[in-house]
Amino acid sequence: MPNEKRQSADEILQNEFNQWAERGDGPKMENHHLDITEKTLRRMDLRGGERVLDLGCGTGWATRLLARLVGDGPQGAGQVVGLDIADEMVRQARAASKDFENIMFVQGSATQIPWEENFFDKVLSVESFY
Ligand SMILES: C[S@@+](CC[C@H](N)C(=O)[O-])C[C@H]1O[C@@H](n2cnc3c(N)ncnc32)[C@H](O)[C@@H]1O
Repeated sequence: MPNEKRQSADEILQNEFNQWAERGDGPKMENHHLDITEKTLRRMDLRGGERVLDLGCGTGWATRLLARLVGDGPQGAGQVVGLDIADEMVRQARAASKDFENIMFVQGSATQIPWEENFFDKVLSVESFY
């Protein structure tokens, strides 16, 4: 179909995962991914004050775990950024994280992370490599 605009890979992912979020699948993923995430967090050796990216954060349950783990450091609180391609996931993540001062959620793609080089000390990405 010559006049039909082809969707980019990121647009396809955004549409797909917005549908997941609208169906209410975001928070349910905690049940499936908590065990592997807790094992991973132990290996990350997180320290208070570190800056961490949660890549493909969904509705942000793991982002909130990270924010607690890096909360207090010798030079102040650590910061956690949750990045997700699906704006509806990001909207729900923000709504569920109002009590956290050290989290920021951003809509964006893993192919172009909107941050300066070497800003983050560590990155977590749970079941998000699509
Ligand atoms: C299966 S869910 C996992 C969400 C969360 N990590 C969890 O464990 O609950 C995959 C998530 O990755 C996001 N995602 C997929 N491809 C992405 C990309 N290229 N850039 C950013 N986020 C992406 C989706 O929007 C979705 O929220």
